[in-house]
Amino acid sequence: MEALFRKKAIVDGNEDHGLKRCLSATDLTLLGIGAIIGTGIFVLTGHAAATQSGPAVVLSFVVAGLACGFAALAYAELASMVGGCGSAYGYSYAAFGEFLAWIIGWDLILEYGVSVAAVANGWSGYFNNALTAIGLGLPEYLTKGPTTGAWNMYLGGALETFGFDPQSEQAIKAGMGGIVNLPAVMIILALMVMLIIGIKQSSKLNAVMVAVKLLTIAVFISIAVFNVHPENWSPFMPFGWFDHTPDGHTIGVLAGASLVFFAYVGFDAVSTAVEEAKDPQRDVPKGIIYSLFFCTIIYIIVSGLLTGIVPYRELNVSSPVAHALQVIGYNWGAALVATGVIFGLTTVMLVLYYGLTRVIVAISRDGLMPKYFSTVNATTQTPVNVTVISGLVMALAAGFVPLGTLAELVNIGTLTAFVMVCAGVIVLRRTHPEYPRPYKMPFGIVLPVLGVLSCGALIAFLPLMTHLRFLLWLAVGLIFYFVYSMRHSKLATQS
Ligand code: ALA
Repeated sequence: MEALFRKKAIVDGNEDHGLKRCLSATDLTLLGIGAIIGTGIFVLTGHAAATQSGPAVVLSFVVAGLACGFAALAYAELASMVGGCGSAYGYSYAAFGEFLAWIIGWDLILEYGVSVAAVANGWSGYFNNALTAIGLGLPEYLTKGPTTGAWNMYLGGALETFGFDPQSEQAIKAGMGGIVNLPAVMIILALMVMLIIGIKQSSKLNAVMVAVKLLTIAVFISIAVFNVHPENWSPFMPFGWFDHTPDGHTIGVLAGASLVFFAYVGFDAVSTAVEEAKDPQRDVPKGIIYSLFFCTIIYIIVSGLLTGIVPYRELNVSSPVAHALQVIGYNWGAALVATGVIFGLTTVMLVLYYGLTRVIVAISRDGLMPKYFSTVNATTQTPVNVTVISGLVMALAAGFVPLGTLAELVNIGTLTAFVMVCAGVIVLRRTHPEYPRPYKMPFGIVLPVLGVLSCGALIAFLPLMTHLRFLLWLAVGLIFYFVYSMRHSKLATQS
């Protein structure tokens, strides 16, 4: 029992683990922007406006941004204080001990892993559209994995046991799907090679692609600003703050906020770069706060303009930003935005994939997962084993598993990590008041408490099915902990 409460000492941020310290505050901010701006703003905004919030989707972004803001400040305080063990996993370890840290680490694996595979699916759609535009489109069976219905058939009906109904209208409509989502597999393998080559090179590539993505957003803003029809903003809040549809779905600005929350996922990945930052205690907090602040402003502007140029009801399409430009007659603008999306989604995958590997390295170094995962290659100074294994698993998932609904799991996973980080600030202020905090959240514990409450509330607005799937994932994690981690943990074997 006492193992559950074992804690690791707060370690110094400049400890040497073989990874190369080469990232500056600017690199970290660009990594943050790379991970943040993607599917959320380019795809989900339209869906949220049409079905949840109406033009008030801009308020959904403000609400989700505020919850993230509290969490970002909490991340910043812990990153400046607990320098050496970045990420919500490391902070939870210092604040709550091994057991809860494992739960959060397991949760982060879900957040980053599922995000990468799900975003790869979206990326594949845009990429194939671009190929089709130049006459090189792939056949459908190479751009889609088998559907849930097809999997059920291959598995001899096993999915029915989990409540899947092969006779449902949805299953019949979905048909068998294709064979493999080839572009999704290829992009993950390409990113795998990039991350093996080196983090400085990856961060340079990231900077270039972030520039392209920001350029396309600037183009959208400059066109949209002159085409706003204020009557599109009325009614501003057609579904109110919070309501239920007759079939039991939650709608309104707050439900919209839990959906568009996905647009903010990723700024926390900056904290996983702590061992490769030149001056982690100073630069990681900066990277987190600057990138989140910048993206929040962009989101408010883009979502406000989007619902101003096209009626919100027309935005429930797969590429609402490009679609809106097309509707107002800017076909070249729409093509440019589509290109920006391809680059934008690539950086999201790159940084989240990077975050995934660094979290697993930290967990494995503490003995909670096999040591094999934390070996760093002496030449490239990158953790090659974990990069290859996680890359192959995600490529298989993205290529063959229908991931659409799983993407909501990312939100619940991330929000749980944020709750723990905010709670971690409160706990460490009590247990280690003497420890230097180069950055400290102002107003005592008011902001971290608001962080716990706001992120907790967003969790409550997610669909029930998402809660159940999340519990299932945690149950698997618990089994792994009691069967493997508890016995092999560094603290257990040392004591
Ligand atoms: N925030 C990232 C996106 O919107 C995950 O794609």
